[in-house]
Amino acid sequence: MEEKYFGHSVPRKEGREKVTGRARYVDDLAFPDKLYGVTVRSSIARGRILGIRFGEGIPWSEFTIVTAADIPGKNEIATIEHDQPCLAADLINHPEEPIVLLAHPDRYLLEEARRAVQVDVEPLPAIFSIEDSIAKRAVLYGQDNIFKEYHLEKGDVDAAWAQADIIVEGEYRTGAQEQLYIENQGMIATANPTEGVTVWGSLQCPYYVHKALIPLFGLPADKIRVIQAETGGGFGGKEEYPSIIAAHAALLAWKSGKRVKIIYDRAEDMVATTKRHPSRTRHRTGVTRDGKLVAMDIDFVLDGGAYATLSSVVLSRGTIHAAGPYSCPNVRIHSRAMATNAPPHGAFRGFGAPQALFAAERHMDQIARAVNLTPEEFRRRNFLHKGQTTITGQLINEDVNLDGLLDRAFRESDYLAKRERFARENSGATVKRGIGFAAFMHGAGFTGSGEVYLASVVEVEATREGNVRVLAASTEIGQGTNTVFSQIAADALGISYDRIEIAQPDTGAVPNSGPTVASRTAMVVGHLVETAALDIKQKLVDAGLLCDACTEDEFVRACRRYIETRGPLRSRTQYEPPPGLYWDDKKYSGDAYGTYAWAVYVAEVAVDTITYEARVTDFVALQEIGKVIHPVLAAGQIEGGVAQAIGMALYENVVWREGRMANGQMTNYIMPTAADIPPIRVFFEEHPYPFGPHGAKGIGELPMDGPAPAIVNAIENATGISVREIPATPEVLMEAMTDKAGAIV
Ligand code: MOS
Repeated sequence: MEEKYFGHSVPRKEGREKVTGRARYVDDLAFPDKLYGVTVRSSIARGRILGIRFGEGIPWSEFTIVTAADIPGKNEIATIEHDQPCLAADLINHPEEPIVLLAHPDRYLLEEARRAVQVDVEPLPAIFSIEDSIAKRAVLYGQDNIFKEYHLEKGDVDAAWAQADIIVEGEYRTGAQEQLYIENQGMIATANPTEGVTVWGSLQCPYYVHKALIPLFGLPADKIRVIQAETGGGFGGKEEYPSIIAAHAALLAWKSGKRVKIIYDRAEDMVATTKRHPSRTRHRTGVTRDGKLVAMDIDFVLDGGAYATLSSVVLSRGTIHAAGPYSCPNVRIHSRAMATNAPPHGAFRGFGAPQALFAAERHMDQIARAVNLTPEEFRRRNFLHKGQTTITGQLINEDVNLDGLLDRAFRESDYLAKRERFARENSGATVKRGIGFAAFMHGAGFTGSGEVYLASVVEVEATREGNVRVLAASTEIGQGTNTVFSQIAADALGISYDRIEIAQPDTGAVPNSGPTVASRTAMVVGHLVETAALDIKQKLVDAGLLCDACTEDEFVRACRRYIETRGPLRSRTQYEPPPGLYWDDKKYSGDAYGTYAWAVYVAEVAVDTITYEARVTDFVALQEIGKVIHPVLAAGQIEGGVAQAIGMALYENVVWREGRMANGQMTNYIMPTAADIPPIRVFFEEHPYPFGPHGAKGIGELPMDGPAPAIVNAIENATGISVREIPATPEVLMEAMTDKAGAIV
């Protein structure tokens, strides 16, 4: 197949609409006679609701007021478990938990009304740390606070300790992180018993919202319709949370009979919606004197917050990535997602892997030091190679070449020369420089049998004018879905890019191609787009209307002839697993992912020993991702991911007070700006993956995994201090770098 568009940086499909301001985000959608909606939230972490009082001075009769008692179906937000209510009815389990919804045409009066609602509560003991949850200082979920637990064992870890010359232990922690998409969350709804429920909103997964609204209203699936408006970023933050806002807007619409719009402002968005799960990882590793891994025992724990939401699957991905890209014959991983009284933590780019890989790649540097090898030499002795197996027993059957990636990343970053120079120049300097790296991988697509269960469907339809529409529920959230699908379809059909149109994700009109998450859209859904487009062409060839190498004019004529004589020209494809993939859900073993992207990232830092600030001064991101579909978009994914991970590593610190985010503003939740971002030099290697479109693998989450350990490894290289937690803010560095008397150690 000719690659006229694939591999080229064609203009973004929706780019013109966005830069001219024509693109319509949910808050741009105007409807006459609509109400605004707001949420009255809990101010405490845990307690029992005794009563709700509506204060003086508000014309309450003008308001639509919704409490749990107004829910027509089940009071739950359906995700994986059924523990999260849509509105707290009796028990409150976290600060900012929704209790009452209000709607009114005047948004200023509405805000006054929200403040006038008083919820009387009897406080209950609450817990805010992984440790207190494990110790059951209060029991919030089941018998033991465990939302989900995995035990993975490969080989025989207990027997293997005897072969180890040295045992290295370490504990590593990562904090919560806010997704900070540029567009806040928002939703508009209409709802009534005859027509059912329709919502428009900023979201990643139309069919997740659809699934959540069905039990809430007790309506049949075809009475619920979810439409994605233009969406300004997601990063996982619009994976599960939009179901809640959609539910709230729809309940207010149901009771009022009017259209209701809920738009969160930044402060509400930051404090109330999901963040990255905080984590604690303990490693105990046995190595031989010459630096071969013989046993890894890993204890990986996530703080899930107050409800189960997606914690089980975030935990699963983290667990599978916890041993890094290394071969070790004996590995045991015990992982748990624990309940606390924080707002539920949720999906965020990387989905558990950044937490687990931070620990793994920091720990590898500790082991290297213990066995007196350079970080690179120690890793080279243990890198995973073709023919070896991962911790789930997945046989690596692709030509993964981590040594080659390491060599090239070192060349591009001038790693060895810089390390030598920094060591020479650092003595006596107040600003110490260092260089570090991380080697890692990211599994593309849903974990285990996830893609089989999703059974994604894509449709492609041609018009009599020879234009082609792709119908999928996969969303454009700024990352390039529409562009990539158009490139793939245009090349499959041999027609121009401008002839491809991407249907708006609308559960009333498009099939379920699965959620836009898990680095799956380009690779898994893109492959379905390609197959469906090829099928359209085959239909024309089979009908004798088209030869294999046709011109665009011939294609247009063939479409017209086909539709006039035979009716609609449409094709539909459904996901089928690549041959030979095997996964055992019970044992949690087998092929965890169809494939992995592999990477080595190098970070250079400068650490000021007076202010304790660390800055990233240069960055090289080298990855093997199958094939690059769109060079500008692919590099953009990597640059954005690295920037977001620099935030995770050094700046973005959620200050918790009794389970509540105390710094929910962009003035005091410090994210990196352009001034804090170094040159990010992006390089790709290409080894086509046979089951991705033209060989492409997923890349969306990968760049979130490597920067934090590379940066903190560089801080250790600069200062000799081993920092074990992120964000490594000046406060954390000061504590690590000074002894009790305040002297630099
Ligand atoms: Mo996600 S964190 O959108 O898979």
